[in-house]
Amino acid sequence: MTAPTIDLALDTDFEWCAQLMSTNDPWLTLGRDFETCLVRCRGPEFVVLLARNGEQRAGFLLLHPTGVAGSPYIAAIAVSAAARGQGVGSALLAAAERWFPAARHIFLCVSSFNTRAKKLYELRGYVQVGELPDYVIAGASEFIMHKRLERP
Ligand SMILES: CC(C)(COP(=O)(O)OP(=O)(O)OC[C@H]1O[C@@H](n2cnc3c(N)ncnc32)[C@H](O)[C@@H]1OP(=O)(O)O)[C@@H](O)C(=O)NCCC(=O)NCCS
Repeated sequence: MTAPTIDLALDTDFEWCAQLMSTNDPWLTLGRDFETCLVRCRGPEFVVLLARNGEQRAGFLLLHPTGVAGSPYIAAIAVSAAARGQGVGSALLAAAERWFPAARHIFLCVSSFNTRAKKLYELRGYVQVGELPDYVIAGASEFIMHKRLERP
């Protein structure tokens, strides 16, 4: 399988990213509509990485440079349904982990009902370090996950 190419997203990619977000869980369950997602994707504070399979957009990742305790924070990651299970999500995570070469730590949050995504993060070395009960919606937690980045 060919690895996806990953680059900074352009302004013209943000509507596609917001559409992917707002039509998929966890954002559906968390009540994030298209407009809310678009504002987030356009947020000047974020680095937005876009993965492509050939010409086709396949997924994206929102990265805040200093979002948790001064370390990078992955605020969102999504892969289009047709491209899942082929390593695109893992490639986006790897790119985010390399994006700030001086960073020693990286964080993300995952919803308690998103068990498959949590499993992916654990396989990639992320460890749950906290839980925020009823954080976005009642009855669901956000798990805070941390990975220590190995640098040469
Ligand atoms: C989570 C997600 C980004 C993973 O991307 P991906 O390209 O499918 O990931 P990879 O191919 O690198 O790895 C596959 C692994 O991802 C996990 N995964 C999570 N949700 C998945 C889904 N809907 N379909 C396939 N794999 C999924 C599984 O652990 C899977 O491993 P498995 O095949 O052994 O079960 C993608 O499934 C997605 O966009 N899901 C919807 C949005 C979401 O949940 N984002 C995370 C918010 S914290």
